[in-house]
Amino acid sequence: MVRLFLASPAATGRLGRALAALLSPPAVVTLAGELGTGKTTLARDVLRAAGVRGPIVSPSFTIAQSYVGRSGLRLNHLDLYRLNPGADVELFAWDDYLTPDAVTLVEWPEAGSAELPRPDVAVRLYHHAPRSRWAELDSTAAVEERLRTALEDLGPAVPAPEAGGTVEGGGL
Ligand SMILES: Nc1ncnc2c1ncn2[C@@H]1O[C@H](COP(=O)(O)OP(=O)(O)OP(=O)(O)O)[C@@H](O)[C@H]1O
Ligand SMILES: [Mg+2]
Repeated sequence: MVRLFLASPAATGRLGRALAALLSPPAVVTLAGELGTGKTTLARDVLRAAGVRGPIVSPSFTIAQSYVGRSGLRLNHLDLYRLNPGADVELFAWDDYLTPDAVTLVEWPEAGSAELPRPDVAVRLYHHAPRSRWAELDSTAAVEERLRTALEDLGPAVPAPEAGGTVEGGGL
């Protein structure tokens, strides 16, 4: 588990760049956390860093959006918030998105947990203050090592506030 303090939306952008640097297909990243914690913001940052140009719209209503990034990389962005349990989950075209050539980012993964593979990185965001957040990232030891390297490559992080308690992984 890596715990990071995201001092501002710019810090969330840096996490997005770190994730984009370590992801290669097939990969699934889940983005969990309460309303407004920054799941879509982080997804956009990953997509931009992976080379997606043009508009990136939130998939809250369409449930899924696909993009092409650098070197023809296929990137999917799912938001399962409006996927109703039962028929919706069964009818959703999981196989169209969870393909071997794609990196797929999934907001509200709880809604599709029976159909989703174990994520390569499970991100959970928490509210802290209006412009800051906490992030917890769960992944395999190998992916975690690459994540730490990718974060180091982005330079020093903004330290977490003292009141934040034990900080593993520091701020971002
Ligand atoms: N450090 C931060 N990281 C990310 N977003 C932040 C941060 N500070 C403030 N924000 C703001 O919080 C809001 C997060 O909205 P966003 O749509 O990304 O959240 P969400 O988790 O996807 O919400 P939803 O559950 O509705 O999908 C944005 O307006 C963003 O600018
Ligand atoms: Mg969202």
